[in-house]
Amino acid sequence: MTSFSFATATRIVFGAGSSADLPALLAGIGGRPFVCTGAHPDRFAAVLAGVSDPATWPVAGEPTVDDIRAGVAAAREHGADVVVGLGGGAVLDAAKLIAALVPNTGDVLDYLEVIGAGRPLAEQPLPFVAVPTTAGTGSEVTMNGVVTSTEHGVKVSMRSPSMLARLALIDPELTLGCPPSVTASSGLDALTQCLEPFVSPFANPLTDGFCVEGLQRAGRSLRRAYHDGADQAARTDMALCSLLGGLALANAKLGAVHGLAGVIGGLTGAPHGLTCATLLVPASAGTVAALRATDPDHPALARYARAGELLSGTAGVDALLDWLAETVRQLQVPGIAGLGITPEQYPAIAEQAAKASSTKGNPVALDVDQLVAILTEAARH
Ligand SMILES: NC(=O)c1ccc[n+]([C@@H]2O[C@H](COP(=O)([O-])OP(=O)(O)OC[C@H]3O[C@@H](n4cnc5c(N)ncnc54)[C@H](O)[C@@H]3O)[C@@H](O)[C@H]2O)c1
Repeated sequence: MTSFSFATATRIVFGAGSSADLPALLAGIGGRPFVCTGAHPDRFAAVLAGVSDPATWPVAGEPTVDDIRAGVAAAREHGADVVVGLGGGAVLDAAKLIAALVPNTGDVLDYLEVIGAGRPLAEQPLPFVAVPTTAGTGSEVTMNGVVTSTEHGVKVSMRSPSMLARLALIDPELTLGCPPSVTASSGLDALTQCLEPFVSPFANPLTDGFCVEGLQRAGRSLRRAYHDGADQAARTDMALCSLLGGLALANAKLGAVHGLAGVIGGLTGAPHGLTCATLLVPASAGTVAALRATDPDHPALARYARAGELLSGTAGVDALLDWLAETVRQLQVPGIAGLGITPEQYPAIAEQAAKASSTKGNPVALDVDQLVAILTEAARH
């Protein structure tokens, strides 16, 4: 029997130039916007030109617990009735968390998974409007926000269906200025977020459709967007791939790449997209090897083979792994040593990743030794 539930943003608006509609769309949602931007707020000043009375708040990097505390205080002081995230995934997550916490009492830690009390939100969050400027995370349609606790050395989520965006406004033109390194790491994150839910035991017919479409678009456009950032068609494909990955992961979960990446990011502060990019090939190969060893008829293997076809035009698991390896090579993704971890740390990373919520959608449970082998393999590149 097929049964599933599916949740997403209240409204999704997609298209080149669509960010020009932000003022009009926002006016129907709230009158005192608190706008989270990236470290360079001037970069997208034109998008905010027609927005009345915004308070802008720059988010310097992937948000920490202290950043969120400060943002919540600033949004309350402004009397915000809507929170906008205009930036990469880090900015979107900060805005999503601030929107959730402004009307709620207590501290960020009360609501966080793993290191906090995981308390449910008593009050409805402020409306959250997501305007992504990278094509990677899909955070515009996911129900979690990721935050780094420097005190605990981990990245964790706060999660609730009520945190889904009131409006996801995706304008691929906003990604035209992404430098090749950001295009590479965010693009490989988007691709992974279409691959992991596709082979997940929680996949359903809706998420399958999104993954197939997203993988096809990444196959024809990721390398192009990297080599020529001004290629509008490729940028559009990657913005869609990111959106489709977000729709899929929020409803079918992720696997070993994200499980390991979350732990490494918390330990070292290494950028999320880059961490996923370094792990994509070894974690996929390790999962395939574990499936072949334990259950050669496992349906996930046929899905990996189909993903190979969608990305490379040739069906097969080996075609998939070859295409991924060649793409990672062309996109000049550095090895795992560049993330700031050493082999002595692998067992502890593997132990945490084996328990991480992000690993739950892997098609086969990987033990600590198998995860250490993936990290060791990642270090060989
Ligand atoms: N909530 C979710 O579902 C979800 C999913 C995946 C990742 N994440 C989180 O998202 C974050 C990563 O997001 P990301 O990969 O977009 O990276 P990012 O937001 O950290 O941005 C990467 C870099 O690109 C720059 N940048 C952004 N847009 C640009 C543009 N148009 N032109 C030039 N530079 C630009 C930023 O200033 C930054 O220096 C992490 O914190 C991760 O944990 C969240």
